[in-house]
Amino acid sequence: MKQESASHPQFTIRRGTVSDIDRIRSLFEREYGESSHPCLNERYVRNAVVNKSELWFVAEQKTEAAIGCMSVSYNAQNRSWEFGRAMISQHHRKTGVLGSLMRSAIDAMPVSEHDLVFAIARNDIALRAMQGHIDSVVVGHDGAPNMVHGVHEHHVVAMERFRSPKFRHCLPLSSAFRDSGFLDREILGPLGLAGTPEQYPDTCFWGHGDDYSDGFTFRRDNLVDAVYLCQHIGGPFTTERDVTADLLRFLSRHCVTTYIGAIVLADKLTVIKAMLEAGFHITAYLPAWHWSRGARYDCVLLARRGRDCANKNGLDADIDAFDTAYRDIGKHILAT
Ligand SMILES: CC(C)(COP(=O)(O)OP(=O)(O)OC[C@H]1O[C@@H](n2cnc3c(N)ncnc32)[C@H](O)[C@@H]1OP(=O)(O)O)[C@@H](O)C(=O)NCCC(=O)NCCS
Repeated sequence: MKQESASHPQFTIRRGTVSDIDRIRSLFEREYGESSHPCLNERYVRNAVVNKSELWFVAEQKTEAAIGCMSVSYNAQNRSWEFGRAMISQHHRKTGVLGSLMRSAIDAMPVSEHDLVFAIARNDIALRAMQGHIDSVVVGHDGAPNMVHGVHEHHVVAMERFRSPKFRHCLPLSSAFRDSGFLDREILGPLGLAGTPEQYPDTCFWGHGDDYSDGFTFRRDNLVDAVYLCQHIGGPFTTERDVTADLLRFLSRHCVTTYIGAIVLADKLTVIKAMLEAGFHITAYLPAWHWSRGARYDCVLLARRGRDCANKNGLDADIDAFDTAYRDIGKHILAT
């Protein structure tokens, strides 16, 4: 699949294959240096390129040198497409390479009406570049687990607007989040979502982890000492209080971990309150994130991290505004 860029005929865009593993890794290594980025790892890139759920695109010059790459990946768990892993070599920036890669990716993505599309952007340039192609809304940030050049940085989460959602969008029965008005005004309205309050599934935590401890599956990133808490494996009669008790055990075992992040279904206020009391902050509201039996349910991203500074890379205004709004919502939840 070769595609000549009309405005910049000096490069072509094609699908990435196993023969690009070293080119992709080198692109990331040259730019990021001391970084926790997984694309510095040859094995990670190999797995990513051969993964049937990831599509890679490479921008190449006539000399066959790779000047840029990007990937999109599908997560069957919540039927989502993520724009990720973009890198353009220094000398070829601002010449439309990312734009061409994005257009090729969008053309190749078999997005269905039930799918959710999102991106995690590390700076204002990446966010603006993406928003030039995807009509999206920023919903918060990730709490800064990752590092570039030895410094942590916040990345913002942006979700594509739902044009005419064909799924049932369920809001939590509790009005804890909606009471602030912020969600309607800044997130749900702009995203084109007008859900109705409904009972949520029993699940408390979203995601699958490969590790297991205290009833939880979790993922670990040793490079940055980060833990991502995922689904709790309980019996059929496990209550939210049981999960919270396991959570406190898990947290006491990981009390010196630099970053702990978790995505929690937005109606699980006992769990969320316990996390806020344990030093977590709400960093993003993720509307329609959890998919179950044809319906979508809202989630909240919570993170707890060390006190060192983290770059905001030109996204300061967005990040500060979300922190203020989510801090107020957190205070409201703590007071109930
Ligand atoms: C962010 C990055 C991928 C953009 O790639 P690029 O090929 O330079 O982007 P493009 O030339 O296609 O430009 C896309 C848009 O961003 C704008 N843009 C790009 N670089 C810019 C800069 N330094 N300052 C201001 N605007 C910029 C372009 O003007 C263009 O806007 P337009 O669509 O309104 O014309 C590139 O800077 C990069 O590789 N950075 C390091 C890695 C990184 O941050 N990756 C993103 C991970 S989320």
